[in-house]
Amino acid sequence: MQIMDGKEVAASLRKQIASEVEALVAAGNRPPHLAAVLVGNDGASQTYVGHKEKCCGEVGFRSTVLRLPEETTEEALLAEIARLNADLDVDGFIVQLPLPKHISEQKVIEAIDPRKDVDGFHPVNTGRMISGLPAYLPATPDGILELLGYYKIETAGKHCVVIGRSNIVGRPIANLLSQKGWDCTVTLCHSRTKNLAEVVRGGDIVIAALGKAEFVTADMIKPGAVVVDVGITRVPSDRTKSGWKLLGDVKFDEVAPKCSYITPVPGGVGPMTIISLMKNTLKAGRGEVYGK
Ligand code: GUN
Repeated sequence: MQIMDGKEVAASLRKQIASEVEALVAAGNRPPHLAAVLVGNDGASQTYVGHKEKCCGEVGFRSTVLRLPEETTEEALLAEIARLNADLDVDGFIVQLPLPKHISEQKVIEAIDPRKDVDGFHPVNTGRMISGLPAYLPATPDGILELLGYYKIETAGKHCVVIGRSNIVGRPIANLLSQKGWDCTVTLCHSRTKNLAEVVRGGDIVIAALGKAEFVTADMIKPGAVVVDVGITRVPSDRTKSGWKLLGDVKFDEVAPKCSYITPVPGGVGPMTIISLMKNTLKAGRGEVYGK
């Protein structure tokens, strides 16, 4: 069994992006500029945005964080988005989710100019992705593909079972892996799937993205399978300083010995997602998806 080490792969890709930014700047261009909008005081969101900001610094991007109070109205947020859409100095931006309950996330996503939607959440980018056109790919699916590529995991003709049909992970990764180049046969499972354990046991590659801690057990895994764990559930712990720890969707200790490759939680898919955001911001800076 080999661990797919997201931290190590992310570090290697970060270096690669940093050298591409250096070359871009050496050629007389300004560095790519990512903006992030953070509404309210959600602790996890503040941490994530902090990590994104730090990573921007490490690869040589400019970054701006716009912090808005919890009481910000939907109208005021949409006005900020319109301003960022028009700001020629900003190549791409994200609005960190979740948003306060009084703001429609869908409205916000659709208000972002697809050319600046480096999260890849806008339906135009989703549609382009599904059509196999150049697009900003959503971070988690792209991070999974990078990991599979780094470890040279054969995907062509393999049966990939995805558990979870979310807009940001399950459905896009299922679609991407079915496309030319990856050539998987894909089964997308969800809460209404019958005989789930049996279906998952048929998977050469299993992607667990349902958001239920330690749901995938050893009896569901075919010996030698590749297991990618997207889950991150925070649970209380008296063994950590913070008072909580992260659990994946896979019962790691019993599943790992059966696998050929597996991602840990934390340190698997998680660190890769920021790299995907950096890749998209570099694409935005170069005008690779929509032109300059
Ligand atoms: N919240 C959790 N993950 C993400 C992400 O990838 N993008 C945004 N905008 N919000 C998030």
